Order: sequence, then structure tokens, then C-alpha cells
Amino acid sequence: MKILNFGSLNIDFVYAVDHIVQPGETISSHDLKIFCGGKGLNQSIALARAGAPLYHAGMIGPDGDILLDACAENSVDTSLIRRVPERSGNAIIQVGADGQNSIVLFGGANRQNTPEFVDEVLRQFGADDLVLLQNEINHIDRIIDQAAARGMRIALNPAPFDNNLDGCDLGKVSLFIMNEVEGEQISSESTPDTILASMRERYPNAEVVLTLGGDGAVYQGRGETVAQPIFPVKVVDTTAAGDTFTGYFLAASVEGLPPAHCMRLAALASSITVSRQGATPSIPRRTEVEAKL
Ligand code: RIB
Repeated sequence: MKILNFGSLNIDFVYAVDHIVQPGETISSHDLKIFCGGKGLNQSIALARAGAPLYHAGMIGPDGDILLDACAENSVDTSLIRRVPERSGNAIIQVGADGQNSIVLFGGANRQNTPEFVDEVLRQFGADDLVLLQNEINHIDRIIDQAAARGMRIALNPAPFDNNLDGCDLGKVSLFIMNEVEGEQISSESTPDTILASMRERYPNAEVVLTLGGDGAVYQGRGETVAQPIFPVKVVDTTAAGDTFTGYFLAASVEGLPPAHCMRLAALASSITVSRQGATPSIPRRTEVEAKL
């Protein structure tokens, strides 16, 4: 089975601030660091560091060498990443003293995928292969349709949730991994129980992982429900916590580990991520996570 992550690659400009800037306010930051990020790239690196070989497909700009290097350093296959004239995607991230963040995205090259490129990529995969998607690139609807037509399993992290997803046939998704906000947006329900009930009714064959911040995470699927509490740590920066959870859960799941084990591994890995600064640099390796289990 081959794993394909068709997703974004961003350059993150991370500003350390006392508090997230309010409307009309101007504040100074204490620090600026530049990291590799993007939900797509973060999830690829989490999968790779969890031990899953994978291909990343997507677009970068002339400034994207550091993104390719980050993939290569983590043994992520870059043969399906193309370069376009548009600059790479980037994110302006404020991280407050409490470790919480606020993100403004610029899509850049991430929005330059073409129908021809989507088809060219997917032609190299088939039944039993798996594609992971987030919502930071264009043509998600086509990728879902083409992947399903080829018999691929589709995992979707519908983040950030927006009307780009309206045109997607979510009935073709076999695994949803999302946080509570995205869960509310996708289901129009407002509590974890009702979100999960709605997902079960609308997508009865799909597995669902709902992450709940400080309240942990819940898995629903294969006739069981698993609640996983957080591993408490001092929060330094929450950036990429959800991406780490996604990558680790998926890597463990494709190994055939039981859902309870996948959830525990993912929760522990993401607790390590929030205790460190930055997106890709904060994602732990499997050996470190296993040592703490
Ligand atoms: O999930 C965190 C990521 O969201 C950041 O790395 C940033 O690039 C945005 O895509």
C-alpha cells in the first residue's frame, strides 16, 4: 500500500507576542522565527517521523527550496512536488504567551494545482493505496473524485473548513480527522456527542477522529468508540499539534494497530509538539514517542 499526501507546503513566519493582536490594535513582537509548515507538509513530516513511507504531492514557488529540503531530510518522497512561478504558500502566525496561536494564510503556489496535475499524480496510485488531504490547496473535489474512482482510501482533515469543501463529495471519505470547530462546521452540531452522531448518520462507513483540545480526542468507527485524554504538558506553541495527531494516527492505523493504540500514540506525539516551538521542527520522532508510552 502506498500513501500519498496531496497537500500544502508553507513557509511560516512566527511572531512571539504577549497576546494575539486585537482589531484596531498595533503591538510589537518579541521574536520572529521562520519555519517550514503548512498543514500538508506538517502531516507528511508527522507520518514520516512516525515511520510511514509516503509521497507528498503539491506546488512550491521559486522560494520553496527549504520546503523541499524539509521533505528530503525526513525521507518524504518529493518526486510529485512541482515548482511554479507563484511564490510558495506562507502563513503569518502569532503565538501568545499562553502558547495559543492565530494564523493568516497566503495560499500562493498551493492554489496553483491544475486538473492535469491532479490526474497525473493520481495515475500513479490505485486500489488499496491511501490519499490524505487537508483544505489548503485547490481542486480538493477533483482529487476526492479521482481517488475514489481509482479505489483509493481517502483520509480528510477538513482544515481550515471553508466553502471550498461545499463542492466535495464527502461520502467518498473513509476517515475524517478534525477538531471540534471543524466538526461543528461540517455537521452543524455543537457538542462532541451530537457531532459524532451526525457524522455516523451521514457517513455511516467512515471512521471519525474528533480532537477536543484540552478534553482529549474521540475515535468513532468499526463499531467502537474510544476516548483518549490528553497527556498534560506545559504549552509552548500549539502550532502543528493537530497535524501531528493526524500523521501519527494515520501511520499507526495503516500499520494495523487497534484504534485505542493509534489514539494514544497520536495524543502523546501531539503533546510533545505543543511543548516545543514551531511547526515541523516540533514534531517528534517515533522513537521519542514510544519511549514515553
Ligand atoms: O496547522 C498548522 C499550520 O497551519 C501552520 O504550519 C501553517 O502553515 C498553517 O497551514
